[in-house]
Amino acid sequence: MKECRHVAIIMDGNGRWAKAKGMPRTAGHKVGADNVRTIAIAANELGVKYLTLYAFSTENWKRSNDEVNYLMKLPAYLFKMYMKEFLERGFRIRLIGDLSALPEATRKVLLDAADESKDNTGLSLIIAINYGSRDEIRRAVKSIAEKVKAGELEPEEIEEETISDALDTRDFPDVDLLIRTSGEQRISNYLLWQIAYAELEFVPESWPEFTPEVLARCIEEYTHRDRRFGGVTNE
Ligand code: FPP
Repeated sequence: MKECRHVAIIMDGNGRWAKAKGMPRTAGHKVGADNVRTIAIAANELGVKYLTLYAFSTENWKRSNDEVNYLMKLPAYLFKMYMKEFLERGFRIRLIGDLSALPEATRKVLLDAADESKDNTGLSLIIAINYGSRDEIRRAVKSIAEKVKAGELEPEEIEEETISDALDTRDFPDVDLLIRTSGEQRISNYLLWQIAYAELEFVPESWPEFTPEVLARCIEEYTHRDRRFGGVTNE
């Protein structure tokens, strides 16, 4: 059976879910944060080793101040509620995105969680925050250009691996399965380099409605797909 090591999820639909229930959008985000725990546990039990979740994009700053402020407080809520359990289960918190632009308190909560769990060897729970794939690639290109300028690297020496190693995801394997909830069929600037050969699943359920059963169904579907990586032979 094909191994599904790395699952990435675009957790869409919190706002619509809450509105449909007559609640403010932020209530959807809180239930969404609780669902991070549920789905991380389920992913771990299904054998996933890396779970990358899109918590806040470089474009999400355009939302109202109230919503942005609320989203910036969610990591503190998540870890206050569930860090003990994450540690007990051997989860390692990892981060991608430009953390430098986050409010100081948010950055500290995230870095502390990553530090506290750094010796764990179980599921890597990777939080993409102030993350945008184009911005990540821009930062990677800048760091490579700086090496060339410093005479540490020749342009001819730039391989695909040079780029992979300059991305925030340098320590993780490519994404095997990308899931987007809530019916939208877009990638929204998420892991563009890393999903080159990923299978894509768009499910109608919103993120608060996305259950371990739906995740299991997505992974089951993935195992039946024929991934050829540009080749022709069946596995
Ligand atoms: C998109 O749904 C969701 C977000 C921009 C936020 C996602 C954040 C969480 C689920 C909380 C997770 C927290 C941590 C710290 C990992 P939307 O609100 O844009 O939905 P809509 O399309 O219905 O408006």
